[in-house]
Amino acid sequence: MVKINENYLKLPGSYLFSEVARRIAAYTAAHPGVTITKLSIGDVTRPLVPAVIQAMHKSVDEMGTAEGFHGYGPEQGYPFLREAIARHDYAARGMDVKPEEIFVSDGAKSDCGNIGDIFGTDNTVAVCDPVYPVYVDTNAMAGRAGDYVEALGRWNRLIYMPCVEANGFSPEPPKETADLIYLCFPNNPTGATATREQLKAWVDYANANGSIILYDSAYEAFITREDVPHSIFEIEGARTCAIEFRSFSKTAGFTGNRCAYTVVPMELERGGARLNSLWNRRQTTKFNGVPYVVQRGAEAVYTPEGRAQILENIAYYQRNAQVIREGLTSAGLACFGGVDAPYIWLKTPDGMGSWDFFDLVLDRANVATTPGAGFGPSGEGYIRLTAFGGAEDTVQAVDRIREMLRRG
Ligand code: MLT
Repeated sequence: MVKINENYLKLPGSYLFSEVARRIAAYTAAHPGVTITKLSIGDVTRPLVPAVIQAMHKSVDEMGTAEGFHGYGPEQGYPFLREAIARHDYAARGMDVKPEEIFVSDGAKSDCGNIGDIFGTDNTVAVCDPVYPVYVDTNAMAGRAGDYVEALGRWNRLIYMPCVEANGFSPEPPKETADLIYLCFPNNPTGATATREQLKAWVDYANANGSIILYDSAYEAFITREDVPHSIFEIEGARTCAIEFRSFSKTAGFTGNRCAYTVVPMELERGGARLNSLWNRRQTTKFNGVPYVVQRGAEAVYTPEGRAQILENIAYYQRNAQVIREGLTSAGLACFGGVDAPYIWLKTPDGMGSWDFFDLVLDRANVATTPGAGFGPSGEGYIRLTAFGGAEDTVQAVDRIREMLRRG
């Protein structure tokens, strides 16, 4: 009789965003004619920019010719894209990342989940709390999280690092030794950032303990303040202890196009093995690369026109963030994030539970949010709003929440 991976049986309920979608669908079915404005899942709404569309059209035409046809591409990504990434995202900011350290993929979510393949299941794992659920659930699936303790809403083998108002939602390294450390800045869900000094403390901790930092910087394009680091590799010593995940999803509207990349420095070694070689082995075995047409589209993001066009879209979302932050702050709510990130982390009024406030806002303001408790125990008492909606929808959603609060 076949044995299943019993770790899956330990997973509580469904994936957070599926549960949110299920509740929205149930509400809509029960209230025909009511339109819900979704500020819940962080999915972009602006169309792909013209430079990307033109590059994709051109490459589709190429694919229809004998000379321009592309079959399987390199699993690690085409050199034209890896070189563009190295030049524009790293060298232009003073970092030395080589094309062969960059692995193009179909998403930061996949990479954050798949990276566990190259690490033993007995490693200890530290996560921020609240946290992007993919880090937790994929470690649970691999057996690294232990057992889920329903009453506490946490896994008994994970090290949770509370990210709360008192520490500016940015944790210090734990007392325990964590082997794998997931950090995400600008943060999903709180929208917080980490300073250079805070990241340096993490890098020093990881190098001292032989740990690996898994650094998710999928939202770096939303940084507005000059002194906020965009990459872990801006920090001295990071090349011997960190892997970085980046994505075109939020930067260039690729959530439906699928393109991201992961940087594994050549210096990074553990257990006598070079992690770049292990990740290369994993990717070449289990992944056949991102479509040529999509990679040509991603490359166009780095042209002067492409760059100017995506910056307009990012500015559009940043204005939404400002509308949400300022509109709800002036209504008396405590709002965090939304300055260097597309997420606003909002404290529920009167200590209300996250899911209760989610239901209330859904029912009374017809706005869908994401309950903070779904991101971890320290997310209780918060909800997350995204700035990725349409501008008019966002203004109306904020007005409706304000009106709901005013009516009491
Ligand atoms: C989110 O809402 O947190 C993101 O859209 C999820 C993701 O990027 O996978």
